[in-house]
Amino acid sequence: MSVSVPERLRTLPPYPLAGLPEARARLEAEGREVLDLGAGDPGLPIPDAARRALAEAAGRPELQRYAFQRGLPHFRRAVVDFMNRRYGRDLDPDTEVLPLIGSKEGLANLAFATLDPGSTALIPDPGYAPYFGGAHLAGARTQRVPLLAENGFVVPPREISDADGDVRLVYLNYPNNPTGACVDLEYVNAVVEACRSQDAVLAYDNAYAEIAFDGYRPPSLVEAEGGLAAGLEFHSFSKSFNMTGWRLGWACGGAEHISRLSRIKSFVDTGPYLGIQYAGAAVLDEAEPYLEQNTAQLRERRDAAVAAFTEIGLELKAPKATLYLWFPVPGPASSRDFALRLLEQEAVILLPGSGLGEAGEGFLRAALTLPADGYREVARRIARVL
Ligand SMILES: Cc1ncc(COP(=O)(O)O)c(C=O)c1O
Repeated sequence: MSVSVPERLRTLPPYPLAGLPEARARLEAEGREVLDLGAGDPGLPIPDAARRALAEAAGRPELQRYAFQRGLPHFRRAVVDFMNRRYGRDLDPDTEVLPLIGSKEGLANLAFATLDPGSTALIPDPGYAPYFGGAHLAGARTQRVPLLAENGFVVPPREISDADGDVRLVYLNYPNNPTGACVDLEYVNAVVEACRSQDAVLAYDNAYAEIAFDGYRPPSLVEAEGGLAAGLEFHSFSKSFNMTGWRLGWACGGAEHISRLSRIKSFVDTGPYLGIQYAGAAVLDEAEPYLEQNTAQLRERRDAAVAAFTEIGLELKAPKATLYLWFPVPGPASSRDFALRLLEQEAVILLPGSGLGEAGEGFLRAALTLPADGYREVARRIARVL
């Protein structure tokens, strides 16, 4: 019996990071030392509070139950207090915060809460794949907005207000993966206004809010004028606290948007394990000293990587935020060919920009996954394929 593949699945491109674990395993099986700067998983220590609280939670029967959508009140309270400390805005823990099983599912599920088949989602290109995945699987038209070097990789608000079609959802991500581009609050105010003019929901992905350097402070949708009414902001424990595998994040935003996303999720999942929410609350309660130290380590990595890569002639600037260096492919090869050659010849994993969207062609992404003393060796290997 041959089972027909539904159109939405048939037309879904391969996930950009899907082949990386196999590629790495194959090279390691050949006995080669792989330098993996592919996925954004820095592997730095998690907060002690996470470990302690999870161990305690494991012994508490009331935390073994179904979490359901609203989850642990103590977690939502900790989110509200954290957001208040960071941005001076008091959210309602009952209606304006929603626990997520990592922010990825929230970003993708939001498409089902906002889009009708045939309506349009605006998606930054290059960009995080679940924006496209969610909107495409929801049957919507996906309209890619190119992030151009000449615009500093920032989507001009006018591209949102002038977009054609029945625009219902706009994904934006600053600090940006993969380009490292950053914006200020004035920009967030302008995109809120642009989304309002389209009656579109703004999905503001702030996964890298806590990885910023040199005195830069990424703005939040909750600080923007009319920000909560405009949409939702997404936060993650993955990057801020190195808890990628724990799968914990949150959405915050206007009560109506939160309620719609929650309703979709109630048919799809039953929320993150309460013990992990308990640990997440403990982490947020003591977040600041950890974040300072984590950022200092990443800044050291960033500076070492930028110095080593610049020395071999790569053209790049130190990003003010995120875990990523984004730079033009040296020479005439496509980003995919260059990344493949680097992988096969030198066992170095970088992401080809084209894997993150057509407009990413011509660029490579390196994640700051190695300790500061690892980038000279990466640079040596890159130099050998040049
Ligand atoms: C831009 C962006 N948003 C969201 C996420 C999702 O993080 P998580 O689902 O682990 O919370 C990532 C992870 O790589 C990301 O790069």
